Amino acid sequence: MAPPEETTAAHAAAEAAAIEENLAAKTTGDQPISTIVIVVAMQTEALPLVAKFELSEDLDRSVFPKGVPWVRYHGTYKGLHINLVWPGKDAVLGVDSVGTVSASLLTYASIQAFKPDLIINAGTAGGFQAKGASIIDVYLASDVAFHDRRIPIPVIFDLYGIGARRTFSTPNLVKQLGIKVGKLSTGDSLDMCPQDESSITANDATLKDMEGAAVAYVADLLSVPTILIKAVTDIVDGPKPTAEEFMENVVAVSAALHYAVTEVVDFISGKSLSDL
Ligand code: ADE
Repeated sequence: MAPPEETTAAHAAAEAAAIEENLAAKTTGDQPISTIVIVVAMQTEALPLVAKFELSEDLDRSVFPKGVPWVRYHGTYKGLHINLVWPGKDAVLGVDSVGTVSASLLTYASIQAFKPDLIINAGTAGGFQAKGASIIDVYLASDVAFHDRRIPIPVIFDLYGIGARRTFSTPNLVKQLGIKVGKLSTGDSLDMCPQDESSITANDATLKDMEGAAVAYVADLLSVPTILIKAVTDIVDGPKPTAEEFMENVVAVSAALHYAVTEVVDFISGKSLSDL
């Protein structure tokens, strides 16, 4: 049943007031974090978090351009306004809209709409056993870079293509949670060609995903601190074919991911950026 119009209007007004209040407080990193955006790429990654934080789907969708498949869940958890967004299903093919293009657009639109204090990009990733990764491990990414934007024009178009950047530093969170820390390399392919492999090695990456560096790039453009939490579904330098291993593990690993994200959100609650 649709909610009465005045309830929807009151809800929208309360949300607009929360965004204004959040903007007014955003002068230093010392105020408690109020609004976060969690960006995920896949429905399987999103749903355990939606259940845990008791978020509701925004069926109105007016915060996003008309016609896009992007989905937003929102609610309040331990004093934090949480917006969890995922890019939805491709309109033609009906699969999750994974990859850097959708992730960038969604991150941009979500920052514009919700003015978050912090972005969390949560998702699954491939891991390199040579760097100590195992299936179901959860990492916080200390650095991100791209591995499939080859522009061999030195210097510095080549560096622009790689787009290496440090993520927001969270020493207290890392210490308290005892979470593993590693570098993340992002590209638009699930598999890995030899050129990508050399770039990933050059990026010194422990993890390989399809969104992280893109989310971090957009958030950096708009000066929003970002942390990335990645759970390992497949061992890139192991014997199993990546796609098979990913499909085998994605549901169980998404559950592990949601426990880790919950711990991170619990830690963030009541703290300021400078406490992290
Ligand atoms: N997501 C999960 N596993 C991945 C891999 N091996 N490469 C890119 N993205 C991934």
